[in-house]
Amino acid sequence: MGQKVYRVIQWATGFVGKAALRHFVSNPDFELVGVYVTNPDKVGMDAGEIIGSAPTGVLATDHVEQILATPADCVFYSPSRADVEALCLILRSGKNVVTSAGFFYPIDFNRADFEKLEAACRDGGTSIHGGGIHPGYVADVLPLTLARIVSRLDRIEVFEIVDLIKSGEEGLKWLAPMGFGLDAESFEKHGNLLSHTVPHFTQSMAIIVEGLGKTIQKVTTELDLGFATQDIPYPGGVVAKDAIAGQHHIWTAWVENAPLVSFHAIYTVGDRHIEPMPHGGTAHYRVIIHGDPPTELTLDTIPDKNGVWTNPGYTWTAMDGISMIPQVCAANPGIVTEFDVVTRPLPGLVRTTASR
Ligand SMILES: NC(=O)c1ccc[n+]([C@@H]2O[C@H](COP(=O)([O-])OP(=O)(O)OC[C@H]3O[C@@H](n4cnc5c(N)ncnc54)[C@H](OP(=O)(O)O)[C@@H]3O)[C@@H](O)[C@H]2O)c1
Repeated sequence: MGQKVYRVIQWATGFVGKAALRHFVSNPDFELVGVYVTNPDKVGMDAGEIIGSAPTGVLATDHVEQILATPADCVFYSPSRADVEALCLILRSGKNVVTSAGFFYPIDFNRADFEKLEAACRDGGTSIHGGGIHPGYVADVLPLTLARIVSRLDRIEVFEIVDLIKSGEEGLKWLAPMGFGLDAESFEKHGNLLSHTVPHFTQSMAIIVEGLGKTIQKVTTELDLGFATQDIPYPGGVVAKDAIAGQHHIWTAWVENAPLVSFHAIYTVGDRHIEPMPHGGTAHYRVIIHGDPPTELTLDTIPDKNGVWTNPGYTWTAMDGISMIPQVCAANPGIVTEFDVVTRPLPGLVRTTASR
């Protein structure tokens, strides 16, 4: 019997959606059967054109009804903002969902939404799973995996370290929304964009803490700012001397009156001329377990054979969820969390010998 081919629909074609599309059109274990877009300029475009590859014969639509009527095993749902009602429609139409747009794990913040999704799963005989790189894989799967080889665990720290210039277009788009280039007073008025993301990261913290058999008591947040010691140019602009050029966000889950899990999100405009320079090393991600033995895991990419470094974040985000599609399609109807799946490579990952 041949390998099952999963019929998939891509919902939204932003950075993550395009990374997902690239995988779906290149892995023969998937058959792309639909693409949903919101951008009118993309309606009617071939999926291949959207990602700059060969035509696929699948044209993008902005008709939700057309997508709902398209038979498929799974929808990879990656819009900029999740819509629970839309997700319920997809699940009730008999299609499983894997999403990068939240819904990693039920906590107080999202419990009402999870109840709606659970009911839609029951009605449609379907399942939903949320995944990503951070929150997601680096912030829950990796720490729990690492915890498997220590003898005592006192505290976990996870670092995400992003140089927004090195990250290219995907990084630079965050400079203005995050308030880089402002002075401290203007930043106060502008607001801390990442404060809205804390509930998403709390879901990954809950996976770690509950995986360790404990319960989160509270989550606290801190922010340390770094300032440019001279003008820092970047493609399309400049962060002026004395303006904000570094942000170090620290979110901590407390258990039994002590900090147990801290996530450090460190963003910089370049990697020098910032005081105080947010620390954390240079790897893209670090997972540290303080305990016995003290243990650290780093995750980074390397330049390709032509010496070109590409930002891995969106592919990592898409693939954490996509890797779970076979298991989500096989699961009993309902919410599928990290505790219901196992880390198992996706069929079709090894495709050619030409690129090795
Ligand atoms: N956990 C993680 O590690 C992680 C990392 C990165 C992103 N994410 C999440 O993954 C999702 C996609 O991220 P992204 O970077 O690809 O986002 P993005 O590039 O900003 O946008 C995604 C797409 O959403 C669609 N869209 C635009 N406005 C919309 C609206 N008002 N309502 C619904 N959809 C709209 C557009 O699709 P079309 O262009 O096709 O019309 C857009 O290209 C987000 O929810 C993000 O939070 C998670």
